[in-house]
Amino acid sequence: MPVQRTLSIIKPDAVAKNVIGDIIRRFEENGLAVVAAKMTRLTPEEAGRFYAVHRGKPFYEDLCRYMSSGPILVMVLEGKNAIALNRKLMGATDPKKAEPGTIRADHGESIEANAVHGSDSEENAAKEIAFFFGEVEIHSRNAA
Ligand code: CMP
Repeated sequence: MPVQRTLSIIKPDAVAKNVIGDIIRRFEENGLAVVAAKMTRLTPEEAGRFYAVHRGKPFYEDLCRYMSSGPILVMVLEGKNAIALNRKLMGATDPKKAEPGTIRADHGESIEANAVHGSDSEENAAKEIAFFFGEVEIHSRNAA
C-alpha cells in the first residue's frame, strides 16, 4: 500500500459544533498523521475556485456560500492508502446514507453541511493540497 497524502477539511458546521478533536482522533487512531494544518475562512470566491469541478451543478452556489460561512480547519493527512482510508472514515457524502460510526454519520447535518471534505483521487489530492499549502508547510513523517 502506497504512502499517500490527502487534503482534509473540517467544514464550518463541524468547527461550530466543536468536534475538531473527535474528528482528528479518528484519523490518528486509524493510522493517518496530520502533517500540515491551519484554520482559515474562505471567501465565497475562494470556495468557488476550490470547488471549481462542481461549477454549474445545482448545489454549487449554495456550497460556496456555506463553505465561506465560517472558519474551517484544513489539513494534510499522510499514511498508507490515505485517500481511500480517509474516504472510508468520512462515510458517504449524504450523512443519512453514511455507514454508522463514520464521521459524516456521527457529525454531518445535511448533504451540504456534511462535516468533512476529503480528496477523491491522487490527482485531486495534489491539486487541493497545493491550493492551501506550500511544500515547506508540510512536515512528512515518512521523509527519506
Ligand atoms: P464534498 O466532499 O466536500 O464535495 C462536494 C460537496 O458538495 C459535498 O461534499 C457536499 O458538501 C456538497 N453537496 C451539496 N449537495 C450535493 C449533492 N447533491 N451531491 C454531492 N455533493 C453535494
